[in-house]
Amino acid sequence: MSKPGESSEIDSVLIENRRFDPPSASAVGAPRWLIGSMDEYRAMHKRSIEDPEGFWGEIAGEFRWSSKWERVLDWELPDAKWFAGGKTNLCDNCVDRLVDQGHGDDTAIIWEGEPMGGEGPEVRRLTYADLKRETARFANALKSLGVKKGDVVTIYMGMVPELAVAMLACARMGAAHSIIFGGFSPQAIADRVTDAKSRVIVTCDGAWRRGKVVPLKQNVDEACDMLADRGEAGVEHVVVLRRCGSDINWTQGRDNDYSELVQGASDEFPPEPMDSEDMAFLLYTSGSTGKPKGILHTTAGYMVFTATTAKYVFNLIPDQGQVFWCTADIGWITGHSYIIYGILPNRVPTLMYEGAPNFPEEDRFWGIVERHKVTQFYTAPTAIRAFMKWGAEHPKKHNISSLQVLGTVGEPINPEAWMWYRKHIGRDICPIVDTWWQTETGGHMLTPLPGVTPTKPGSCTLPFFGVDAAIVDNDGQPLPKGKGGLLAIRKPWPSVLRGIYNDRERFIETYWSRLPGMYFPGDGARTDDDGYFWIMGRVDDVINVSGHRLGTMEVESALVSHEAVVEAAVVGMPHEIKGTGIAAFVTLENAFTPGSPEDAEKLRKALTAHVGKEIGAIAKPDMIRFAEALPKTRSGKIMRRLLRSIAAGEEKTGQDTSTLEDFSVLAKLREPQEG
Ligand code: PRX
Repeated sequence: MSKPGESSEIDSVLIENRRFDPPSASAVGAPRWLIGSMDEYRAMHKRSIEDPEGFWGEIAGEFRWSSKWERVLDWELPDAKWFAGGKTNLCDNCVDRLVDQGHGDDTAIIWEGEPMGGEGPEVRRLTYADLKRETARFANALKSLGVKKGDVVTIYMGMVPELAVAMLACARMGAAHSIIFGGFSPQAIADRVTDAKSRVIVTCDGAWRRGKVVPLKQNVDEACDMLADRGEAGVEHVVVLRRCGSDINWTQGRDNDYSELVQGASDEFPPEPMDSEDMAFLLYTSGSTGKPKGILHTTAGYMVFTATTAKYVFNLIPDQGQVFWCTADIGWITGHSYIIYGILPNRVPTLMYEGAPNFPEEDRFWGIVERHKVTQFYTAPTAIRAFMKWGAEHPKKHNISSLQVLGTVGEPINPEAWMWYRKHIGRDICPIVDTWWQTETGGHMLTPLPGVTPTKPGSCTLPFFGVDAAIVDNDGQPLPKGKGGLLAIRKPWPSVLRGIYNDRERFIETYWSRLPGMYFPGDGARTDDDGYFWIMGRVDDVINVSGHRLGTMEVESALVSHEAVVEAAVVGMPHEIKGTGIAAFVTLENAFTPGSPEDAEKLRKALTAHVGKEIGAIAKPDMIRFAEALPKTRSGKIMRRLLRSIAAGEEKTGQDTSTLEDFSVLAKLREPQEG
């Protein structure tokens, strides 16, 4: 395993040496730092590990419960129950609780649309009182369509305020949501709807993206047709918000207009008291096999952990003019936890932006920071690399000195991008919180605390409260500092996933079988002399493209479903912006073997489009190489390690090929291919 950014020894020396002490709060314009010193962090962390029940019980007491829990933690591997016996509601704690505390007029959500008219973009502000009314109305609307507590509602929308309303309305009435990122294809929607047995889909006519309309409703229509073709019970109701005014087909009896539904709906819908361990939502993510996994999160632990991580990691303090902006889409866990559920309880406005970072120009994000005086900015390394490529002149055009804390998430950040972020966005002073976590962990696990933890470019530093992380070998034995191994979490934390929907076996096998008694996230990592964690990337057949996980099998299955393809192997390869790109090695049916470089290029385009159709644009290969055969071991396993080095254009000497079955295969794959 090699660490990104550590391809040469010089790099690694630089990584070890650069270290940034935390600035004072006044230097960055923050009201104060919530945690005052490393000693305070260490004492709190120690207590959270030695007495998790005392630690989390105290914090949970700040939330509103309709009945108090009986026990803070029941733990019987792999099943964690947090706050068992208690009843609470996520929407109540994100919205109504704050209204009842007298903050109904405080801004909860600031939304900026993508289109830019002469007078600037459309901006909407929703107060906590607005959210209370709108979530009650939409919960009533869902109820009128037959949605009940425990049902799964599929949401496939653009980044509009109604998306926040829809998800919170589900939480309000005790329905679970399954939000599907708007970049996914009809096929992906159909698969998720089937797995979740969802009967209702909430969508938009379209979503604005770089000045164009993404046809969301049309994708839903196609997904519904696929479900009907498969002979499945199918979707009973589709709720359509008109956002773009685009032409859409309308299926009478199935399709419902969002505005009409809520217009007649009552403003009253008391939040449903939910058991702490009731399902809050499903979020589908990739694994190393072809089938996406429905990651299941429950109510109370997720609520307490996301709000607490958000508070300390971003230093959220109400009534101090802070504005928090996470640039993720709500369709990913980052958006669930750090646009909505973790932020709203902290009573700092959360900013939602509808569109692309380079629309109409490449300075759009910095215009947003300036317009809304954003104080916390949370984005992904892939975005930072794009900012770098576009150039520092773009942030320079705007006054972005409101920024206090910068965050990054999704993949290891290369030190060069970290330094650029600090210098050009953070005025060489704002602390950067490099947060390591996963869909499965619900919230931040390894992260600096701003104003407290000295940072090193490329390291996610130290565990958050309640997180007992270690580097271990294959047998779960702790490894000494400096040695690369498997990252393991040795104790349950409040927002640990509670299951893979409908697949208990896969849940146990993926997370709880590899290491005895511990959670296995699937990442390789090491610690340095200061005990800082350095993530080295995935150790399974999962690649991380632009901060989002894709199973290589998923892309392979999509390729093989094309008539021209016999076999495909997909591996990650270095990519300037995405961090990791997708390289596909494909063997073809004889009849489809291209006769000319032009034919080859045509076929590559067709295969790329096919993968886009099957999964979505994020899964499109960046490189496709045709091969007569793939390198395999004698037992028939594809040698991905070799393909990875070929895709990276590395010299293969030194690679162990002793188990390779047919050496000529390798020679052919290395030959440059035209077209
Ligand atoms: O490999 C790690 C990487 O992203 C994976 C989780 O992906 P996903 O569930 O899609 O969630 C992304 C947003 C939370 C992890 O297993 N990863 C995430 N954050 C970091 C990271 N790798 C290194 N540093 C990070 N800060």
